[in-house]
Amino acid sequence: MIKAGIIGYGYMGHFHHDKMKCFREIQVVSAYDIIPAKRQDAFEKGLAVYDNLEDFLKDDLDLVVIATPNQWHERYAVAAMKSGKNVLCEKPATMSVAEMEHIMDVSHETNRFFTVHQQRRFDPDYRVVRDIIKSGAIGNVTTIESRVLGERGVCFGWRADPEYGGGMLYDWGVHLIDQILQLYPDERVTSVYARVLSVLTPAVDDFFEIVLMFSNGVCAKINVGTFALQKLPRWFVFGDRGTLKIDDFSGKNGGAARIRGDVRGFESVVGQKVLGPSRTMAPLKPEYLEKIDIPDEEDMSMAFWTNIVEAFAGIGQLNVTQDQILRQMKIVEASFQSAKENKVLVVRI
Ligand SMILES: NC(=O)c1ccc[n+]([C@@H]2O[C@H](COP(=O)([O-])OP(=O)(O)OC[C@H]3O[C@@H](n4cnc5c(N)ncnc54)[C@H](O)[C@@H]3O)[C@@H](O)[C@H]2O)c1
Repeated sequence: MIKAGIIGYGYMGHFHHDKMKCFREIQVVSAYDIIPAKRQDAFEKGLAVYDNLEDFLKDDLDLVVIATPNQWHERYAVAAMKSGKNVLCEKPATMSVAEMEHIMDVSHETNRFFTVHQQRRFDPDYRVVRDIIKSGAIGNVTTIESRVLGERGVCFGWRADPEYGGGMLYDWGVHLIDQILQLYPDERVTSVYARVLSVLTPAVDDFFEIVLMFSNGVCAKINVGTFALQKLPRWFVFGDRGTLKIDDFSGKNGGAARIRGDVRGFESVVGQKVLGPSRTMAPLKPEYLEKIDIPDEEDMSMAFWTNIVEAFAGIGQLNVTQDQILRQMKIVEASFQSAKENKVLVVRI
């Protein structure tokens, strides 16, 4: 039986409580929160509640789940591991590379695990993109565009405050960076260029664009904004034999097509008046194209937590490793630096 306690009984604290309740191997026993109403809420859900970290950590726990605003992650993770607990931390793991390295040292010294809730690795839209790229169906990939655009123009709650580690790069950014890095674990990022802007939220970034070049020549463009009133696809991938577009998080809407075996573009010009005089950009005849089926991805919404339970049972490795998170934090730091200096950083990450 895995005895678990939660730090921060807010939106994600509830999310994790609900997930853990689905496993008979986990018993959620306690919560620590600084706000009395949150503690009352946890108490009413049957948990022992604490208003300070020291007493919370005296409990006999196997796992501490950290779901506070971002600036607390490092110190709570370190304290939990030093008191003998394993840690599952919300993303972003930390605010910096140095903090992540500190966590790794403490994890090593205490022999406790530290992993991060990067569950968007299991999202269906991402798995469709990953599977079609890996299948080779669209040929060699040249550019991957990954974007998430909101309409409300707000960073919700503490996300609008830099003291709490607010801003979209620490929020959606780490998910989208993680997804891209998972596509190419054996390649290196060779350059980083980023624009990180405050468009409508003065104190933190609410819009960013990051361009990552990989050692295999693939370019990944990641874009997040809180305010866009027209739709762009969640994913757009250019290959040298085909193209993939995924419209939304369902992974079901969009399309993928490839050019037929030996067809060469200039053989297949179809006139189109609206285009004006161009053969280069004239569309292909439909018979030269073949549709690529978008795979129907299975529901993996429990996969992250299943992996945690299996890791405890010794029947699997943790899916989200510290080296992966360190790499991610290096990209985050390089992005902030590139934006500040307005230049392309040559890196090896
Ligand atoms: N993985 C994901 O998809 C995902 C989604 C949303 C949020 N998150 C992450 O989850 C974390 C929490 O976000 P949220 O949306 O649940 O925020 P929230 O504001 O809803 O909840 C935060 C909770 O932490 C408590 N808290 C604040 N400071 C504390 C402290 N010093 N000690 C103890 N408790 C404290 C608050 O009282 C609140 O109950 C953040 O790190 C965020 O980035 C992850």
